[in-house]
This record gives sequence, structure tokens and C-alpha cells, in this order.
Amino acid sequence: MRVVGESEMVALGRRWARCLQPGTVASFRGDLGAGKTTLVRGLLEGLGYKGIVRSPTFTLIESYTIADISIHHFDLYRVEDPEELELIGCRDYLNNQDICLVEWPDKGGDLFSSPAIAFEISHTKEGRDVAYRLFRDDPCWTENEGL
Ligand SMILES: Nc1ncnc2c1ncn2[C@@H]1O[C@H](COP(=O)(O)OP(=O)(O)OP(=O)(O)O)[C@@H](O)[C@H]1O
Ligand SMILES: [Mg+2]
Repeated sequence: MRVVGESEMVALGRRWARCLQPGTVASFRGDLGAGKTTLVRGLLEGLGYKGIVRSPTFTLIESYTIADISIHHFDLYRVEDPEELELIGCRDYLNNQDICLVEWPDKGGDLFSSPAIAFEISHTKEGRDVAYRLFRDDPCWTENEGL
């Protein structure tokens, strides 16, 4: 899907937010600066979050509570050993209530290797291409892929 400009990326996330059921794990792959955090910001805004979305580049995790649902936004870029994630209890976030949005999922070993949906964002000449793969049968994502 062709997505040109930050505001389009946010709009896409806002619309897709309705597909984030409790317990959903979504992963985001793409080069540095591809737009992963921007898409996550759209998702959070679509869930009703009004504050600033910070990239968890240094903190590893930023957690939000929106309408009684906990959403954990990970950026695993700096993780060197997946064991670091076990030590800080990340596995506890994988439950059927919380939503996990994970940038650089491959740095987490097998922890986030089984998402419901995996996004892949790539740079194009005009903007970005957003592709996704579904690992659960859920028509919501395809039905709402318009801007
Ligand atoms: N569809 C788009 N078209 C053009 N620019 C975009 C688009 N989406 C995001 N951007 C811009 O790309 C830049 C990087 O975005 P972002 O921080 O979301 O990337 P990221 O993939 O999370 O990077 P990192 O790997 O460092 O976490 C920002 O300046 C953002 O405004
Ligand atoms: Mg990011």
C-alpha cells in the first residue's frame, strides 16, 4: 500500500486501531526511519490516546492504558540478547488482554515471533510502502486498509 507523508501514515494507523483486539501482538519491520513509530502513533491515537507518543528507542518499552486496556510499545533495536527481555519480564505482556506493538521484533528471538499481524514498511521514491501479513484469520485489517 502506498502511503505518502507522515499524516497519511498516522491516518492509516488511526483507522486500523479498531482491529486491535485485546491480546493482539503486531510486529513492525522496516529500516531505520521507515515509519514504524509513526504507524504505531496512529494506532494509539485511533484507540483514543491524546498524549505524546515517544519512541521507546532507549526505554525499550512505553506502556499506555487506554480504556482499561494496556498497550505496550516496544522498540527492540538496541537489544543484544533476547534474554534481556526475559529478565525484565516481557513475557508477562504476552497474554490475552494486553496489546503488544513491537518494532524490530527479530531482536527479541522467539518472544514476538508469532504475531497476529506483521507489518513491513519500506521506503519508496514518493513515500513509503506498507505491507502486512496476517497470521490470524481476521478480515478487519483488509477491510480497513483505506486511508
Ligand atoms: N508515509 C510516510 N511518508 C513520508 N515520511 C514518513 C512516512 N511515515 C513516516 N514518515 C517520516 O519518517 C520519519 C521516521 O519515522 P519513524 O520514527 O516513525 O520511523 P521508525 O521506523 O520508527 O524508525 P526507527 O527504526 O528509528 O524506530 C519521520 O520523520 C516521519 O515523519
Ligand atoms: Mg521507531
